[in-house]
Amino acid sequence: MSGGSLSNEVNKRRTFAIISHPDAGKTTITEKVLLHGQRLQKAGTVKGKKSGQHAKSDWMEMEKERGISVTTSVMQFPYRDALVNLLDTPGHEDFSEDTYRTLTAVDSCLMVIDGAKGVEDRTIKLMEVTRLRDTPIITFMNKLDRDIRDPLELLDEVESVLNIMCAPITWPIGSGKNFKGVYHLMNDETILYKTGQGHRIQDRDIIKGLDNPELDARIGDYAADLREQIELVKGASNEFDKELFLAGELTPVYFGTALGNFGVDHMLDGLVQWAPTPLPRETDEGKQVSATMPTFSGFVFKIQANMDPKHRDRVAFMRIVSGKYEKGMKMHQVRIGKDVRIADALTFLAGDREHVEEAYPGDIIGLHNHGTIQIGDTFTAGEKFKFSGIPNFAPELFRRIRLKDPLKQKQLLKGLVQLSEEGAVQVFRPLANNDLIVGAVGVLQFDVVVHRLKSEYNVDAVYESINVATARWVSSNDERKLDEFRRKAEQNLALDGGDNLTYIAPTMVNLNLATERYPDIEFHHTREH
Ligand code: G4P
Repeated sequence: MSGGSLSNEVNKRRTFAIISHPDAGKTTITEKVLLHGQRLQKAGTVKGKKSGQHAKSDWMEMEKERGISVTTSVMQFPYRDALVNLLDTPGHEDFSEDTYRTLTAVDSCLMVIDGAKGVEDRTIKLMEVTRLRDTPIITFMNKLDRDIRDPLELLDEVESVLNIMCAPITWPIGSGKNFKGVYHLMNDETILYKTGQGHRIQDRDIIKGLDNPELDARIGDYAADLREQIELVKGASNEFDKELFLAGELTPVYFGTALGNFGVDHMLDGLVQWAPTPLPRETDEGKQVSATMPTFSGFVFKIQANMDPKHRDRVAFMRIVSGKYEKGMKMHQVRIGKDVRIADALTFLAGDREHVEEAYPGDIIGLHNHGTIQIGDTFTAGEKFKFSGIPNFAPELFRRIRLKDPLKQKQLLKGLVQLSEEGAVQVFRPLANNDLIVGAVGVLQFDVVVHRLKSEYNVDAVYESINVATARWVSSNDERKLDEFRRKAEQNLALDGGDNLTYIAPTMVNLNLATERYPDIEFHHTREH
């Protein structure tokens, strides 16, 4: 990476993640995007062939999935004049918390939709999350080499179900066996599709102008159909508007096939042209920290263990918000009030771990973590403040965890607290007894925890069912009321891994009654780190 002025470096960067329903083509698109970024000689090495569906509690599969998402956690590549950071999100919905937090570290998202299926559940959920910050969305309608649904109907569905306006940038000509290519509405050119080119960067076969007779010569009757359709589309759909896009209210839509590596580059052109350069982030005091602020700052949005199986280390992923990271620089870890010197931050160039000399806003760096870094931690090299907005979600599944060997209580607690700091799971210690309750958003998290307790903390633990329906973090502006609540509701109160007071409800009815009975107490569904 060459050093430039801060604003030059900021202007070059685009940091995004892909949101999609499983099987829509996220992995395939990632491969092709990297191919275009020329980070991979030949696309197809992001992940090996899938070995069928994941057995729900098959640890080996999990380990594989983790191993895979680890090497591709963050990928940086050049595209045209830009430097693009693509952040991977776990595929399995049981790790959705991780995904939510990763979405706080990007400035835009690519939404991939299977053209034969349209808008699916997971996409709806993830779009809700992007709404929290009005993240700009680019849409890719995938699998045009198969018979897809009527494109206009697909756009309608996106608009009505996801409540975002669509502005088609390209328009497909046929699909499945008859997929001929796309017409680029803004450039007034047709780009023709050729099969069997999925593994290479193709020269674009372009026909300028919709009325060009060459179009009829090349695609026959499809040309006349296309002209008719484009007239219709222009009348029926929105024109691209950059302001609305940046406000998260309108999405440019591209059509193509990731597998055939067709259309991915059109989408990338749009991304580097329109997607925001690294955006400001807000502090817990409501101040905006812009990317061009000269002093360094950043926040940790993810901690991942076992990056390197040989070292069993843990890496904290930090999004740089402002200023410049230089190897060996000193920064302040705000939560613990300590200065640290960072000499060996990592970057992840298409799976390789490389030591970085410098990094800029929008970039992600990996810090070696020996247990002192938590999700949500802010690091600054200047003024001290704390970034806000990195959520913990109230778990929906609960189990009591018990040791096989009761003498290892201390290790168990240590392990659980560390795993909860990583966001792998949440742990609750009731005020009224010595139970340890593990809370998760997805059931696979339970398996991960038991496996890691064994391999990293040498603790054998088992689960027992427990009668808990939900948990809420509680707070109050009135200390006295909070004390009273603590006394009266002690049977239902616990401390989480970070010692935050939590209400543990055996049923939803119980929770509702408690919120009515204690109007001065706030019950929170999410907790900010
Ligand atoms: P995901 O990460 O979103 O879960 O999706 P992934 O890229 O793994 O794609 C899911 C399946 O869809 C894969 O097939 C992949 O080859 C296929 N696919 C992706 N893009 C396209 C496309 O443009 N056209 C067609 N026809 N298929 C596409 P699979 O058989 O499940 O896996 P594999 O054995 O090919 O790896």
